[in-house]
Amino acid sequence: MAKRDYLKITDTTLAEAHRVLRLAARLKEEPKGRRTTILAGRAIAVVLEKASTRTRVSFEVGIAQLGAQPVVLSTQGSQLARGEPIRDTARVLARYCDAIAFRTSSTARLLEMAEASVPVINALSDDGHPVQVLSDIFTIQEALAASGDRTGVAGRRIAFLGDCASNMARSWLEAAQLFDFHLVLAGPEGYMPPADEVERARKTGHVTITHDPREGAARADVVNTDVWASMGHEAEAEKRRTAFAGWTVDAKVMAKAAQHSIVLHCLPAHRGEEIDDETLEGPRSRVWDQAENRLHVQKALMLWLLGVELA
Ligand code: CP
Ligand code: NVA
Repeated sequence: MAKRDYLKITDTTLAEAHRVLRLAARLKEEPKGRRTTILAGRAIAVVLEKASTRTRVSFEVGIAQLGAQPVVLSTQGSQLARGEPIRDTARVLARYCDAIAFRTSSTARLLEMAEASVPVINALSDDGHPVQVLSDIFTIQEALAASGDRTGVAGRRIAFLGDCASNMARSWLEAAQLFDFHLVLAGPEGYMPPADEVERARKTGHVTITHDPREGAARADVVNTDVWASMGHEAEAEKRRTAFAGWTVDAKVMAKAAQHSIVLHCLPAHRGEEIDDETLEGPRSRVWDQAENRLHVQKALMLWLLGVELA
């Protein structure tokens, strides 16, 4: 059977995505940190060309909890820093490892890594952060279930406020089409996803765009935000602070959202910029569960990609 990769949200069918999420729920029920030997004798590489806290630790711990050996490589300290081609790195890693999680800048580098003969997972690129958004869907379903609603994300109104050209917003746009919910992209003009990506979702009625934060949050079941200057855009931080003035997710914005709404932020957060401290730490925030769920969802995703079933 051909190997599978997880480079973008639509690399699974809807049924496969739900299967991974169900598996994640089972894994989450296991006592914290319980190790299994289900992947004993295997190794999974985590290659990081950009900074990371959650992705690195959740993959490294998750791989160890499944009984496999995590191998974490960053640019500095590996031959990547000295210009070894990704294609060569990919072929060599596949000789030692059973899967590769890769955080990089461009889709071109990600696709080159995906030439490896083992499954490759996008651990964030400039165009998407699919493991985060898949995991966020798990978090939304979990929050809904906790309030007695087991109907899932289909048909919901999910808002993304801030830099809608970011990897996070672009994976949300893809997710809206796969999971059949309505995404409201709310951000200043000039900070939207590429036109063809928006057009595809618009045709199927899965996206609305607004340039007004309160309109963006209006009636939303979920309000998402993310940093205004993603990794790679640090030099534009000042310019972006000006462009995004008035876009902080705060009590006034949240007052427009549905009463039962929750707030998500993939972290790291910049309090006082894209979100204020009161909202991040407030009763609607699910950001700490959201961070934890990366562990469970990625464990499930790795098992699924490797074709390994839980007993
Ligand atoms: N949310 C997320 O991917 O965090 P890190 O950049 O710390 O991995
Ligand atoms: N959009 C952010 C996500 C960080 C997890 C970035 O790319 O820096």
